[in-house]
Amino acid sequence: MEFLGAHLAFRFRWHKTDEELCRHSMSFVLHKAISTDFFESYLYLFERQPLVNLYALTSEVIDGEMQFYARAKNFYRDVPATEEGMMGGFSELTNIDTESSREFLRKFVGGPGKAGTDFALDCGSGIGRLSKNVLLPVFSNIELVDMMEPFLEEAQNYLEEEVDRVETLYCYSLQDFFPPVRTYDVIWMQWVSGYLTDKDLQEFLIRSKNGLKDNGVIILKDNVARQGCILDPTDSSVIRDIHILRNIIEKSGMSILAVERQSGFPELCIPIWMIAIQ
Ligand SMILES: C[S@@+](CC[C@H](N)C(=O)[O-])C[C@H]1O[C@@H](n2cnc3c(N)ncnc32)[C@H](O)[C@@H]1O
Repeated sequence: MEFLGAHLAFRFRWHKTDEELCRHSMSFVLHKAISTDFFESYLYLFERQPLVNLYALTSEVIDGEMQFYARAKNFYRDVPATEEGMMGGFSELTNIDTESSREFLRKFVGGPGKAGTDFALDCGSGIGRLSKNVLLPVFSNIELVDMMEPFLEEAQNYLEEEVDRVETLYCYSLQDFFPPVRTYDVIWMQWVSGYLTDKDLQEFLIRSKNGLKDNGVIILKDNVARQGCILDPTDSSVIRDIHILRNIIEKSGMSILAVERQSGFPELCIPIWMIAIQ
């Protein structure tokens, strides 16, 4: 039955591959998709772990990985490089958000057995809203990585004189970014994990783990669905439930140190959670 299950799990993907990828004559993409699917089904059969189901989850809702990433980039081309833009129109919640983040961060840095306070990386940083209010008050130096150049340009004004403590502004998509090895005390990912597919998120977490110093911590803060995996077509992101996030984190070889729900946001907002990972 398990063999049968693995086979059936891919029928949907084969169909999509034929329909979408062949239509665009992208034989290299087709080849990549086929070899990845074969590899994953072998893993499933060998390890008897539902890796297939995990990767299939976002595949089912995003309707093609390249389109998923391209649509997010298009969306951000029209987003102003302001706090309002970074907060999706809810900039009045910045203080509540950053205050909770600072409190959460304090539990994991600056003490025996905890992360140091030398160097942090802000992933999907935008203009550096989080860097300014949470990371720069704690860390001696920081770095920013974001896929949108205009946001990183604005960061140089927005961070004012504190910009001197920013070592590098990396203009990269996280799915293509390799954090330098054993470099950071804290890697912060806020409102960006939903722009990555399950597979890319898992792989980015593995690379981030390699980017941490001893006792280093990754903090992931994001919208969390009540159940399942929901596509937000407006900005081409997915909102995952906590079980899916846990699964991805565990598969990246790390464990969860703590989780905490953001309080003080309006009831109608999607719940936001902070997850400390090591
Ligand atoms: C909602 S904003 C949040 C910005 C910042 N983290 C904050 O909390 O103010 C999302 C940010 O993620 C960036 N982003 C989206 N997808 C990305 C990707 N695949 N790689 C890198 N950055 C990405 C966008 O350019 C944008 O700056």
